Amino acid sequence: MDPEIKKKVLRKIVYGVYVVGVKQEGAVNAFTGTWVTQISFKPPLIVLAVENQAHSFGMISASRVLTLNFLGSDQKGIAQHFLKPAPAGGSKLEGIRYRLGKVGAPILEEAAAYAECEVRQIHPAGDHALVVAEVVEAGIQREADPLTLRETGWTYGG
Ligand SMILES: Cc1cc2nc3c(=O)[nH]c(=O)nc-3n(C[C@H](O)[C@H](O)[C@H](O)COP(=O)(O)O)c2cc1C
Repeated sequence: MDPEIKKKVLRKIVYGVYVVGVKQEGAVNAFTGTWVTQISFKPPLIVLAVENQAHSFGMISASRVLTLNFLGSDQKGIAQHFLKPAPAGGSKLEGIRYRLGKVGAPILEEAAAYAECEVRQIHPAGDHALVVAEVVEAGIQREADPLTLRETGWTYGG
């Protein structure tokens, strides 16, 4: 296989851009993720691929809850903020307006919409893990076109 062609082909997969809210005991954090899709109607399940080494993966594994925050197409700046690794002992949520939802994970006040999820299964898969989660609550905070990876000009894949 030609690795350059493989990279180009895999980068043709179409993605949205989300902020995944996580918690562990009293601590909260969030990260920008794009490898997300729905995988079941009943129950309503989504899957996220989460990097094994990410701070947030440890938090998801421990608490078994998360939120999926949906950004509007004008909110690339928010996605950019949550791309950074979590500061040692701190949270990227400092200075960001959020509340804790039903499952206890952060919902961004600026997000266009959100889904609150309980983790049902975690499967190892290469350098990411598949986190299968059930949507147990959802809300719309304002109408907005969804932010897509293509319009950010960023890539994650290949
Ligand atoms: C465009 C883009 C998309 C990303 N998508 C994902 C993703 O789907 N899953 C993931 O685990 N990390 C993804 N990342 C990486 C995380 O945003 C990054 O590792 C983050 O620092 C993790 O945060 P944490 O250290 O607070 O856990 C993506 C990065 C970029 C630049």
